[in-house]
Amino acid sequence: MDKDLQEHLADWLGQEQQRVQGAKKLTRQEKAFLAGRAGIILKTAAKNRSLRVLRARSKPVAVVYRIPSNRPRIKNQQALFFMMDREKTSRKTRAWIKEQLRSLGAAAPRATVATLMPGDEKLYRSVLLAAGFQNRYEILKGDTKVALRNLRQRKDPPRDLTHAGLNLVRLTSASQLKEAMRLQKSVILKFKRHGYFSHTPKQLREDLKCYREALKEKSGVLLGVYQGSRLRGLMAATIHPGDRPGERTGSLAFFLHPSIHGQGITKTGYRIFLEFFVRRKVRTFWGGTSQPAIQHLSRLMKRQIVAVIYVK
Ligand SMILES: CC(C)(COP(=O)(O)OP(=O)(O)OC[C@H]1O[C@@H](n2cnc3c(N)ncnc32)[C@H](O)[C@@H]1OP(=O)(O)O)[C@@H](O)C(=O)NCCC(=O)NCCS
Repeated sequence: MDKDLQEHLADWLGQEQQRVQGAKKLTRQEKAFLAGRAGIILKTAAKNRSLRVLRARSKPVAVVYRIPSNRPRIKNQQALFFMMDREKTSRKTRAWIKEQLRSLGAAAPRATVATLMPGDEKLYRSVLLAAGFQNRYEILKGDTKVALRNLRQRKDPPRDLTHAGLNLVRLTSASQLKEAMRLQKSVILKFKRHGYFSHTPKQLREDLKCYREALKEKSGVLLGVYQGSRLRGLMAATIHPGDRPGERTGSLAFFLHPSIHGQGITKTGYRIFLEFFVRRKVRTFWGGTSQPAIQHLSRLMKRQIVAVIYVK
């Protein structure tokens, strides 16, 4: 194992983590974790022959690698990354990264994900598109209080849906969840392009588990949107452990039947969920989406784009 390369990669991973989470100092445990993670990445990528390293005067300055996804949603799902010393990037380094992304990306299997920091998009987007990547997901981080304030100032959505002739019902029982999961699946299959992997049996099982826990521990709110007695929409807010000890973070999901789109339902959902997060002292909420409506509302609520994921 190249110790020098492992140390550099651990540093670069740490810098990216700080950029994503906001520049808090990394703890000793986090640094140790990243050193281990760098070791695993280098070993795995080298074994797969998917490791490219650029050196200048024998010092590593950038690395591009493709490794199996951390949380694979489908079999053999891969992830493509590059890391570098961002203070010392040159045109030559960027050209080298483009070339490696092109070759490792083109040879990558379907459903490979490639992560870009928002500032890198203008440089590398076209390379990823040329390598066969298509869908673009924004990974969004929001401050619950800021988002709620902006949502109320800009839209002030009502807490119910009577204006649309719909009923908003808090789901509380496992039997209601069954129907809700069927709806989630059928909606997401209609919008597969935006569904990421939400329609796969594995993801549906994971979501159901998470919703069940939310019911049991009241660590979430599940809302059904009813048109008469028919369930037409599912909106979910759940609370999860954050990246740092003791931290908790929120996550949201929206699945509306097309017959009820365009009536401001999501905004009502956001209001209820953000008020719930604020009451529970959950300060951040995260999510990934390629849905223009959600991206639009995220800008309005001043959520920050922390990464952009392209999927092949
Ligand atoms: C995404 C979804 C939840 C949005 O539902 P909705 O509440 O009907 O959304 P609306 O159509 O009312 O749009 C909400 C806002 O986005 C805007 N918007 C809608 N489509 C847009 C587009 N293509 N580009 C930019 N803004 C758009 C609307 O104008 C509205 O903003 P406004 O209040 O400032 O006018 C719904 O379409 C859905 O369930 N889709 C299928 C499942 C899915 O993709 N879920 C999301 C996974 S992240």
